[in-house]
Amino acid sequence: MNPESSPFRPGQPIPIEFFVGRRKEVERLHGMVKASVRGNFKIGFVSGERGIGKSSLAHFVRVLAEHESKTAGCHVFLGGVHELEEMLRRTFDRLLKDSMDKPWHESVKSFFGNRIRKVGLFGVTLELNLAGDDLSMLAHDFVPSITQLLAQLKGQNEALLLILDDMNGLATSEVFANWLKSIVDEIATSQQQVPLCVLFVGLEERRRELVKSQPSLARVFELIDITPWSGDEVREFYERAFESAGATISDDNLNALVRFTGGLPVLAHELGDAVWRTAQSLHVDTDDMVNGVILAAEVIGRKLLEPQIFQAIRSERYRSILRKVASTPRIRLRRAELMSHLTDAKKRVMDNFLRRMRELGALETDPEVRGGYRFPNTLYSLYFTMEATRAGGSI
Ligand SMILES: Nc1ncnc2c1ncn2[C@@H]1O[C@H](COP(=O)(O)OP(=O)(O)OP(=O)(O)O)[C@@H](O)[C@H]1O
Ligand SMILES: [Mg+2]
Repeated sequence: MNPESSPFRPGQPIPIEFFVGRRKEVERLHGMVKASVRGNFKIGFVSGERGIGKSSLAHFVRVLAEHESKTAGCHVFLGGVHELEEMLRRTFDRLLKDSMDKPWHESVKSFFGNRIRKVGLFGVTLELNLAGDDLSMLAHDFVPSITQLLAQLKGQNEALLLILDDMNGLATSEVFANWLKSIVDEIATSQQQVPLCVLFVGLEERRRELVKSQPSLARVFELIDITPWSGDEVREFYERAFESAGATISDDNLNALVRFTGGLPVLAHELGDAVWRTAQSLHVDTDDMVNGVILAAEVIGRKLLEPQIFQAIRSERYRSILRKVASTPRIRLRRAELMSHLTDAKKRVMDNFLRRMRELGALETDPEVRGGYRFPNTLYSLYFTMEATRAGGSI
C-alpha cells in the first residue's frame, strides 16, 4: 500500500487522538499536576526502557493538564546538555517558545522583558538571550524566579509543569544533582506555596546516576515506571490504526503482530508501517504480515540497533544458530538448552555467537541462572526473533 497513506508514524511523536492506553500512569501524573495546582510542589521521574513511550506519555499529560487543569506546560529535551546553566537556558527558552500560541504568552514575555529577541527569516521565532550573569542568577534564585513567574501567570494558569526529557549528560553532573537537592529543600522549608510540578523523563540508569551523585535525591522523586503495553493495548493500537485507514486484518494475523510487538510502542509503529507498505490491498493477509515482519527487521536493525550487532546477526554463519536462539520472542535463554541437538561444529558456532553477542552488549549473563543468558531489553529479544523469521524460521 502507499506509504503516504500509512496510519502508522514510525519515529514521530504521536498525535493526541492516536495515543493508546497508559490510563493508570496518565491519572497518576495528572494527579501530581493537580496537586501542584493546589499549591504543592511535586517532582517525579518517569522511567522505562527505550521506545516504551515515556516522552509520548509526558506530552499527553502536558496537553491534558493544559486543557483541564489551568497549567502552563513546558517540555524540554536535554540530550547533549551537561551543565546546569545550559539546562536552565534551554528550559526557559523552551518555555518562551512553548507559550507562543498560548493565551499566557504575553505574561511570559513580560517576565523576560528585554532578554527576548526575534530570530529566524521573518523574525517570527523568539529566542531568549540570557547572559552568563542571568543564568547564574537563575540558578541561584531559581525558586524566587519561578514563584515570580507563576505570580505573573496567575489567573490564566495556576501551575507550571516542567518536563525535563532525555537528561543524559546532566545525570552525572554533581553540580546539577546538588543544585536540584537544594531547590527541593528550599521549597520544602519555605512558607510559600510553589505550584510547580517537575517531571524528569529518562532511562532508569539516569535516575540511578543522579542518585549516585546526590544520594538524598533517592527519596525525593515520585517514581513512575513505564512498562510495556499489555497485549490488549497493543491490539487496540493496531485495531485503531488499521480501522482509521479503512483496512482489515484477521484475528490470527493480528495476534501474530501483537506477539512480535512485545508491548513496545516504538516497534508497533515500525511493524505496522512495514506491514502497511507490503500489504497488497486493504485486507492485510498472512503473506503481508510475514513480509511486513521481515521488512521491519531490516528497518529496525538499521534504525534502532548498533551497526555491529546488526552486522553480526546478519552474518551467514549464524543463520541456523539464530533460528535456534530466537524462534519465539523471549528474554531468557539457557546454554544447555541451546546446545541440545547440535553437532559439535554447530556447538562451537553457538558458543562463538553467545560470546560475540555478549561482547556487543546484545546479550548478558543471567545472574539468576547458571549457564543462563538474557537480553538486556525487550527490543533486542524481539529483533532477534524477527531476524530468525527472516532467516527462514516460522512465525
Ligand atoms: N501511548 C502511545 N500510543 C501510541 N503510540 C505511542 C504511545 N507511546 C509511544 N508511542 C509511539 O512509540 C514511539 C516511541 O515513543 P517515545 O518516543 O515516547 O518513547 P520514549 O520512551 O520516550 O523513547 P526514548 O527512550 O528513545 O526517548 C513513538 O513513535 C511514539 O509515537
Ligand atoms: Mg523519549
